[in-house]
Amino acid sequence: MKNESCISADVERVLFSETQLHEIVERIAAEIERDYRDCTQPLLLVGILKGSFVFLSDLVRALHLPCRVDFMSVKSYNGTQSSGKPVIRLDLKEPIEGMHLLLVEDILDSGNTLSFLREILPQRGPASIKICTLLDKPDRRTRDIHADYVGAVIPDAFVVGYGLDYDEKYRNLPYVGVLKPSVYEHKE
Ligand code: XMP
Ligand code: MG
Repeated sequence: MKNESCISADVERVLFSETQLHEIVERIAAEIERDYRDCTQPLLLVGILKGSFVFLSDLVRALHLPCRVDFMSVKSYNGTQSSGKPVIRLDLKEPIEGMHLLLVEDILDSGNTLSFLREILPQRGPASIKICTLLDKPDRRTRDIHADYVGAVIPDAFVVGYGLDYDEKYRNLPYVGVLKPSVYEHKE
């Protein structure tokens, strides 16, 4: 059975199919290649866990450039609501001095997580910091932050799949879909 026809009963509608996600990843990889091709210092892709792990794994394989990969985990989300000040739960393994950092996110929502990282990471002396996000939900932005690479801009809906979760479920769906509000209503 084809995955795209195998829609979870909790998903209201599919926003991006596997095929569309593949096209998005290829386009972003080409943009990154164009911008970093001539860089002499190392490029470090920093996956913001957990949500970015599927996107990042597809992105690195579409990227025909030497690059390193590391991860950070920043906690600021409970259920479907962002909950104030982010805290680092997992930090980078190595120093980043002189490296070109590309922060890879699943979704830019309020902007809390990425504006926090943009605030603290420059103190470690990277050559540059840019942001790549699969999805951008600008309607809920409370911080003045934008991504340098955006897969797609989406409306204000809670989405799951392709790494994105609701309470740790649905990350393994191969598409991105809008979660039925009945799944989370009365639970928060
Ligand atoms: P902020 O608000 O800091 O949020 O920009 C970034 C993180 O919040 C999570 N997030 C979502 N996760 N569906 C999800 O599964 C969503 O619609 C959604 N909106 C925000 C996500 O982990 C992201 O890294
Ligand atoms: Mg998440």
